[in-house]
Amino acid sequence: MKIRIFPTDRAAAAALAGEIVAALRDDPQLVIGLPAGRTPVTLYRELAVRCARGVADFSRATTFNLDEFLGLGPDDPGSYRGSMERHLFSGINIDRARIQFLDGRAPDPEAECARYEAAIEQAGGIGLQILGIGANGHIGFNEPGPWLSARTHRVALTPETRRANAALFGGDPERVPREALSMGMATILRARAIVLLATGRSKAACVERMIHGPLTTELPASFLQLHRHVDVVLDEGAAARLRGAS
Ligand code: GLP
Repeated sequence: MKIRIFPTDRAAAAALAGEIVAALRDDPQLVIGLPAGRTPVTLYRELAVRCARGVADFSRATTFNLDEFLGLGPDDPGSYRGSMERHLFSGINIDRARIQFLDGRAPDPEAECARYEAAIEQAGGIGLQILGIGANGHIGFNEPGPWLSARTHRVALTPETRRANAALFGGDPERVPREALSMGMATILRARAIVLLATGRSKAACVERMIHGPLTTELPASFLQLHRHVDVVLDEGAAARLRGAS
């Protein structure tokens, strides 16, 4: 893992935005995996700014988001699809037909998961996977537990994760759906390159375990140690427990 520490979350987001823009210049048809959540909001703003300036071009890129709440559709304000629309898709020149998302309202969720896996394959696999991390060490919605799922799957959310997502539901964890659909660990690890972005002190403990701890299903992000091309982009808060970090 290559670890980089920036003084602020804004500086981390700006550096990563610059790298995504450069990757798109090298490969305009890049297939990008994207996280929802609060962490990437600054990154997405930076990407929209670069698009408005004509520096970034998403017109031939494809995106696959990591996860979605079960039962929610794109028009639902609490859905990740809705959140991505507000924070990223409305601000960049992406071809709408190339935005790929798990459909939380699909009548057959298992079939929807299989469809998504096939769509990723058909797109040639994910070239660059951007990740956030949950405070309990989850990536996507791959929650800690005795086992992990390899492929895109239906998952029950932990109370902690429902609390962490409450902001999308008027601050009420009870309104957060109990289940979700998520790319699996193998889906994520098959990306050719991965960048994990973590900011803020609340992520410091899980970041330390992800980098220095053992591989364990109790901290799903620890499996990123198996991948050859993982960049970890941190602000000082998220890096606070790393050896040698200030
Ligand atoms: C959420 C999402 C993840 C996200 C993570 C961190 O529950 N399922 O895709 O990366 O948890 O979220 P945040 O960035 O809001 O801390």
